[in-house]
Parts: sequence; C-alpha cells; structure tokens
Amino acid sequence: MHDALPDVDAAEVDLHATFLGRKLALPLVISGMTGGHGRALAVNELLARVAEKRGIAMGVGSQRAALRDPMLVPTYSVVRQSAPTAFVIANVGISQLVKQDREAALGARDLNEIVSMIKANALAVHLNYLEESVQPEGQTRARGALAAIRALTKRSRVPVIAKETGAGITKEVALRLRRAGVKAIDVGGVGGTSIAAVEAMRAAAQSDMARMSLGNRFRDWGVPTAVAVAGVAGVGLPLIATGGVRSGLDAAKAIALGATLVGVGRPLLQAALRGEQSVEQWISEFELELRTAVFLAGVRRVVDLPKAGLVITGASRQWIEQLGYRRTVLRQKRPRR
Ligand SMILES: Cc1cc2nc3c(=O)[nH]c(=O)nc-3n(C[C@H](O)[C@H](O)[C@H](O)COP(=O)(O)O)c2cc1C
Repeated sequence: MHDALPDVDAAEVDLHATFLGRKLALPLVISGMTGGHGRALAVNELLARVAEKRGIAMGVGSQRAALRDPMLVPTYSVVRQSAPTAFVIANVGISQLVKQDREAALGARDLNEIVSMIKANALAVHLNYLEESVQPEGQTRARGALAAIRALTKRSRVPVIAKETGAGITKEVALRLRRAGVKAIDVGGVGGTSIAAVEAMRAAAQSDMARMSLGNRFRDWGVPTAVAVAGVAGVGLPLIATGGVRSGLDAAKAIALGATLVGVGRPLLQAALRGEQSVEQWISEFELELRTAVFLAGVRRVVDLPKAGLVITGASRQWIEQLGYRRTVLRQKRPRR
C-alpha cells in the first residue's frame, strides 16, 4: 500500500535480509541454473563474482552432471572460487534421491560431495516432477520421495531447501516438508520460465512429438508464484519467491506477501550472457526499484514490508480465497507509528 506521507528518507531505507543465519545486502538470490556444460564455467564465474561483490546469494544448477563426469566439477566449483564469502546453494534433483528404473539413489558420499564441491552454505533439492513428466528421459518414480528428503535432512551438514522449479508449492506440501526437516522453501511458482515449455522444445528437437505436445499442454500447470507465497508464508520457514520475479517492484510485492528473499533465474542468465555490466545494471535497477517501493510504502526496512498492508486483486485473490490462504494474508496489519 502506498503511504503518501512516509516518515523515512529514501536513502536510509534498509534493504538487508537475513536468510538461514546469514545477512545479505539485498533480499535476492540468483536462482540455480547452470553447470555441467561448456559455457557454464564462464557464466557461473561471472555470476558468482557479482554475487560476491553485491552481497547476494547464488545457487548452481543440478550437480548430477559433475557426479557422473568429474571433468565437469570446475563448472560448479568456480562459483566458490569466485565468491569466497557469498551464500552459495548446492543443487540436486529429487529424482536422484529416489531409486529409478535404471539408476540407484544417490548415497551419502555423493550428497556430501555435492555440498563440498562448492563449499555450499545450503543444499537445494529441486522438486521438478512436471519437468520429469515431460522429458523424454524423465524419471518419475516418486514413491518414497518425502522419506528420502527426511533421510537427507537428518544427515546433511548444511540446511536443506526444498525448491520447486516452476509449478509451485502449496501450504500443505510445505507443512509436510517442514515436518521432514527442511529448513527453507523456494516456492518456484508459475508465472516465469516454464520448464514444461523448455522441455517441449527439447522434445521437438528430438522429434518426440508426444512429449512436445505434453509440455505445451502443461506449460502453465501449477500454483502461481504469488499464491504459493501467500500459502507458504504461514508455515514459519524462510521462503524464497521464485518464478517470474522481474523487478525490484515484483520483489517488494513478494516480500509484502511473506517472502524472505526473491529468486531470479532467466533475466540474470540472459544478462550474464551479455556480460558483467548487464548483470550489474540489472541488480542496480532492482535495488533502486525495491528501495523506491519500501520508501513509498512508508516503512524503513525491506523486512517491514509485510506491515505496510496490501490489496490482492483478480485471479490471485480467487486462488487465495479458494485455497483458504486469505486469513494468513489478512492477518498482516499496518504498523502504528
Ligand atoms: C536454463 C535454466 C536452467 C535451470 N536449471 C535448474 C536446475 O538445474 N536446478 C534447479 O533447481 N532449477 C533450475 N532452473 C529453474 C530456476 O532455478 C528457476 O526456478 C526458474 O527459472 C524460474 O525463475 P525465472 O522465472 O526467474 O526464470 C533452471 C532455469 C533455467 C532458465
């Protein structure tokens, strides 16, 4: 909500966020995307350098490739080399934790290796059953997935984050994940990069027309990011809002709804492919937009945005009401000054 009479100077607005015990300069994480192929080394090196400089967090893409082929390890480990003090998030897929038809589940040693490869501060388990369903080589044996996560959280040296990749997480699933020992949730909702559409393109390139059609049919399947944030905000875990966050203004809305950080994928990957200056410029614009939103909402700190009040309209409102999330959102009140 706009405050026509803010009692704060724009320049003194505090944009720091705390995530899993670490203070970040901005409530932003570069979403896990790359690793394991030729260009990934340069992209990860560049993104990590900027993450270190700007005091933001960074995830890497699935590290399965490096477990299969150790020659690919540098495409991930370059992140820690370039960002010695940044909050860095390792990444593994849920399908690798569950035995598949032609692949055993990863063992304790592999999972340790994934974390130590980048000296990670946390480990994200990506929940990507939509993607696996569309992929020609997809792994959809999911029975026992929650138990596998529980086993992982018990033995992991670092906090485990459950991370959807574009179909969203409901409050009910977040509660199950919390009971399994997960320490943060990345809701990865609908509204940004469509992993189903990406897989549809890959299927088309392999002349697999049935999978291409499936991917296109399910391109918008799942829970929109804003709705997922509104639901998971009531669960009491740190929360990353990813999926279609394109600006500091989007970030302000997500944080007002209850997110701790926002995750940004494709825009930062595209910027990285243009060069370091583009990434720096993207983050600077994000920072200025976020600062402006916090100032105009009349609060001093980005973490106070939930107190600034909000109005939810249209389809988001319908989703939130039907899923019974409304009370969680409406409980937030304006501060007394
Ligand atoms: C090229 C690309 C590769 C990705 N690879 C991974 C991955 O390996 N592991 C993962 O957890 N998420 C992966 N993602 C999902 C992103 O982390 C993020 O959730 C998604 O792109 C939505 O954010 P966006 O709308 O800002 O792009 C990938 C996304 C892109 C665009």
